[in-house]
Formats: sequence, C-alpha cells, structure tokens
Amino acid sequence: MKILSGIQPTGLIHLGNYFGALKQWLDLQTCLPVGMEKNDCYFMVVDLHALTIPQNSAQFKQNIESAILDYLAVGLDPKKCTLFVQSQVVGHTELAWILGTLTPLGELERMTQFKEKSQQHKDSVNAGLFTYPILQAADILLYQADGVPVGKDQEQHIELARTLVRKFNLHYPLPKNKALFKEPATILPKEGAKILSLNDPSKKMSKSLGADSYVAIFDRPEIIRKKIMSAVTDSGREIKFDMKEKPAISNLMTIYKLVSGKDFAQIENQFKNKGYGDFKKDLAEKIIEFLKPIQDKRIKLEKDKKKILSQTLELGRKKAQKEADKTMKLVREVVGLPEIK
Ligand code: TYM
Repeated sequence: MKILSGIQPTGLIHLGNYFGALKQWLDLQTCLPVGMEKNDCYFMVVDLHALTIPQNSAQFKQNIESAILDYLAVGLDPKKCTLFVQSQVVGHTELAWILGTLTPLGELERMTQFKEKSQQHKDSVNAGLFTYPILQAADILLYQADGVPVGKDQEQHIELARTLVRKFNLHYPLPKNKALFKEPATILPKEGAKILSLNDPSKKMSKSLGADSYVAIFDRPEIIRKKIMSAVTDSGREIKFDMKEKPAISNLMTIYKLVSGKDFAQIENQFKNKGYGDFKKDLAEKIIEFLKPIQDKRIKLEKDKKKILSQTLELGRKKAQKEADKTMKLVREVVGLPEIK
C-alpha cells in the first residue's frame, strides 16, 4: 500500500499527534509478515500548510528542521520510509491549483477546521486558510496514496480529497474508462484517534488551547507530573471507562492504556479502591517512562543534527520528487498543459 501523511511544524508534538498519527506511521513503516506487500510510506513536514497562520521566519525555519529530528527520534527510519519537507518537492502547489479549479466553494465553507481556525485567528483569516484542504488533497494525490493515517479531526479533509478524485476523474477521463486518481482511504487508529484536552475534555488536545491542554512528547518529567496532576476530572471518584458519563477520566485512561499496554479492565481493577490522585500519579510516571527513550534519542540526534538533517532530507526529497514528477507528468498530459522537457 502507498501511505502518505504529514504534520505541521508547530514547534511541538503532543500526545494527540503521537497517538493519532505518528504511532500509526511507525506501525505502517515496518515490514509486514512474509507474503504481504511492504508499504511504501511518505511522511512529510507540511511547512506550506503552517504558513496559513502567522510565522516568525527564523523560528519557522528551526521548527521545520526540528520536526524532522522529532520524526527520527520517535523511530521513523529513512531506510523504511520517505521523510521529506513538503515545500522542497515541486508539484504540491501546482496540483493544488488545478484541483482548486474543480473545488466548489461550498465544499470549503463547510470544513470544520476552517470554521474553528478562522474563529481562533479572527484578525488573520487569509485565503490560504480557506483553500488549505485543497493543498492537503494535492499532497495525497501527488503520491497516489492508498491510505492516509491521521487522527479523527482530519477525516473531513480526506473525504474532500476523495470528492476531488471523483471530480478530477470525471472531468479529465483517461481512455478506456481508466482513471488517473484513486480514492484514498482514511486510516484511523483503533485507540487514540481523538485524544482530548487535559483541561477541557469537550475539545481535542491541541496546542492552541494552551500548555495545560497537552503533554508534549519532549516535556520534562516535572512538567508532565504537573500537567497530569492538574488535569480536570469528572465528578465521583471511581476509575471507570465511560466516555459519556466520565469523559475526562476516560480520556486519561485511554492515555494510560496507550502508554502502558494495559487494557481498560486491568486499569479499572488496578485502581479499584483508589482515587483520582493515585491514578494520576501513576499515569504521569507511565507517560514519563514511555517518553524517556524518545527524549533520549532526540538529545543524541541534536548533537549531530547538521549531518543527519542534510542526509535525511536529500534522500527523502529525491525519492518524493521522483514520485511527484510521475504524477504531474500524467496530470499535465490529461489536463492539456504543455509538456515540460
Ligand atoms: P496537524 O498538524 O494538525 O496534526 C497532525 C496529526 O495529528 C493528529 N492529531 C490528533 N490525533 C488525535 N488526537 C488529537 N487531539 C490530535 N490532534 C492532532 C491529526 O489528526 C493529524 O493526523 N492538515 C493536517 C496536516 C496535513 C496532512 C496532509 C495530513 C497536511 N497535508 C496530507 C495527511 C495527509 C494537519 O493540520 O494536521
């Protein structure tokens, strides 16, 4: 299967990003059992998407590089997948333009993320924020991806990518009823597709809700302890998984499950006669333990970052550009644009 996904370089990766996206990327990059086809994975830093909100150039440059080192620290391996930066591959914006000419405004107007972000950044709502999902569709189609591993908040964008595939294939059919693009599937994790905010379990964990909303994967142990201990809880004192009645504690139990490997019954049993405080204390330690190898690896990578970055990015860019060029050649042909020789 061809797999593609990306994360914006916001300067930090939180547990939502990790369990919604990165954990799936790690699983997908590893070889499948004998007899099954290996996945061809493309994982990128979507710097062009991040430009839809104001960025400081110097900080932005650093965040992009840092994101690649973060990918390596969590265990993505340039030998097993293609790691690259979106803006270093020619074709994303060109295909986005072409897809934009097929996108009805109404499709963009109903995008939840646009509605939310334009509320958050009221004084800087730009056209890029509005057309953002078209660029995302282009990212996916440029590599002819079969599957897109993401968290639940991205489902609507991938649905739009499928709509645009149908529109493109209808508008620009190939001979003999063949189609240039195929519809990409959304790949959601079984657990962790929507990790909730620690300070407001009615919303997803997000950097934009403030530092108390999330645990970042590079937060120091004392910060993790502080954030988990001050996470909001539900009424009562029982440690019980019940998303409807006890969303806050159920969210913390989901995180506990993901970092410890224990199932909900085991967790409930372990904390049967204990209160929220005991549970949170142990959860913080489990998170710290889980993140330690990633944090240690990130420190090591920092020491030799110049060399590591240039090697990784050169390898990734070349491979990604080759794929992108193949698609754009076909797109130009079918649309009727002159060939680039
Ligand atoms: P971004 O950068 O906002 O988020 C990156 C990934 O993290 C997931 N995620 C979560 N998962 C579970 N719980 C949460 N609280 C949580 N918060 C974030 C997101 O679902 C995402 O998978 N538009 C995309 C980036 C993008 C992209 C693409 C993705 C651009 N082009 C092409 C896939 C394919 C975004 O802004 O993700």
